This record gives sequence, structure tokens and C-alpha cells, in this order.
Amino acid sequence: MTSDTSAAGWQGWDAYAPFYDWENRRTIGRRDVRFWTDLARRADGAVLELGCGTGRLSVPVARAARRFVGIDRSAPMLRRLRVRIRRARLDGKTSILRGDIRALPFRRRWRCRLVMAPYGMLQSLLSDEDLARMLESVAGVLPRGGRFGIDLVPELPRWQEYHRRVGLRGPMSGGRRVTLIESVRQVREHGLTVFDQEFVEWRGRRRTVHRFSLAFRTVSVPQVAARLEQAGFRIDAVLGDYAGAEWSPDAEVWVIIARRV
Ligand SMILES: C[S@@+](CC[C@H](N)C(=O)[O-])C[C@H]1O[C@@H](n2cnc3c(N)ncnc32)[C@H](O)[C@@H]1O
Repeated sequence: MTSDTSAAGWQGWDAYAPFYDWENRRTIGRRDVRFWTDLARRADGAVLELGCGTGRLSVPVARAARRFVGIDRSAPMLRRLRVRIRRARLDGKTSILRGDIRALPFRRRWRCRLVMAPYGMLQSLLSDEDLARMLESVAGVLPRGGRFGIDLVPELPRWQEYHRRVGLRGPMSGGRRVTLIESVRQVREHGLTVFDQEFVEWRGRRRTVHRFSLAFRTVSVPQVAARLEQAGFRIDAVLGDYAGAEWSPDAEVWVIIARRV
């Protein structure tokens, strides 16, 4: 389990990789896909996805974009994405990189037209310093007018704490069955919400337990908007759903669209 004081937001994802698609097909699914593909189509240039993971969004976005670059720190997540990109025959216009979004590994002159940070990606950065380093790095790859889209998971601090609740269960590929037992902890002194996940996998009568934790920072829309402005961005829009409704603190979706100035 993650110790609360040493948690790092990039931890836990390697162990999650085999279960990520299984769980997210049953949760977020394709709800945000159209939103990101529309933005990518309008970008009229290269699109960079921060924390692309197994490619839930990368494959449709790569189809819509002129050129697509995905970056993620987790090798097991990226292995899955590479298979999907190959199968979709998108290799020709796609680059997948293993790296940390706090120090983007691009040549000095490399630029893209849209950077996207979907599905709470930025909440994996657990301190203000990490957020500032990432913003500086993103500002370095966007030309003036280039856009930065951010989707935050709403109001993490309001999530009820619970202990060992069966979240999901069902069949998985290869004749397996999986049960997810989940706990949520609020670590208020560090501004973190921690998900302790236990995936119990059955192959016939053989049972394997996979345990890991994911920590997320409880940032707010005004806080991220202020940091964006300090880092040389202007806020174009703050949306409360994926169809363009205006944001309010109780909105189910928290999307910020910023522009490099
Ligand atoms: C919520 S998943 C999002 C995956 C995908 N974008 C989606 O929408 O389904 C977050 C991803 O961010 C990656 N990640 C977390 N911290 C990171 C960091 N500091 N640098 C690069 N990737 C990171 C994780 O490995 C994970 O794949």
C-alpha cells in the first residue's frame, strides 16, 4: 500500500495496467471520446496526450489528428497502447514515448497545436512544484495560440471514504473472472484522495490477488486556472459537461481549455 507521506502520483499504474481497460469500460467508457476527437480535429497540427495510458482516448484521437504523440511513465500501460496503435494501423502518424510529464523529453524546437490532459491526469501530480514543472514543460511545446485541454476529476475531497467495498465483478478475457475490492481514504493533511485497489483474479480454481494504491491531488478549478495564468496561458473556457455547458462547482465534468499567450 502507498504510505501517505511518500505517495507519488505515477506509482500504482504499472500494477493497474492489466485491469485498466476492464474497469474503465464499465466506468467512464467512451463518454469523453467525442469531446477530445473534436478538439484534436480542430487543432490542425500535432496533438500531444499527457498520460496516454493504454490508449482509451489515444486511438480515436490519433485517427482524428494530423499527427499524434502520447507520453506516459508506465511501460506496462504503454505496451497495451502500442499493440492497439499497430492494430489500428496508426503507426505512420503516431509516436509513443515513455517519459515523465514534469520534464517533457522533446527537442527544443518541437511544437504541437494541442496538449491534452484528460481524465484527471493532472491530479496525479501531487504537489504545487510538480504542477508548475509540468506547466513550464507544456508551455515549452506550445506556440502562441496553441491550446491546452485539461479534464479534472470533480471534487475529490467530497468522495465518501469507504473500506473494502466490492466495486465491480465480471468476466475478463482468457476465461478469467475478476472482482475489484476498493477502499477510498482522504488524507486531508496532504490534500490527497487515495484509492486502495485489490483485484482478485480467478482462472478456474486458481486465485491471484493484485494490490496497489493510486493517489490523486484534490485540486480545484480556480486553483488550476490561476496556475495556468501564472504559467503564460489564458483561459478560453471552463466547461461543466462534454457538450459545452458552462461550469459550476457542482458540475459533473470539470474541463478547462486554455491558450498559450
Ligand atoms: C487516469 S490514467 C489516463 C489514461 C488515459 N489518458 C485515459 O484517459 O484513459 C493516467 C495515466 O497517467 C500516467 N502518469 C501518472 N503520472 C505520470 C507522470 N508524472 N508522467 C507521465 N505519466 C504519468 C499513468 O501511468 C496513467 O497511465
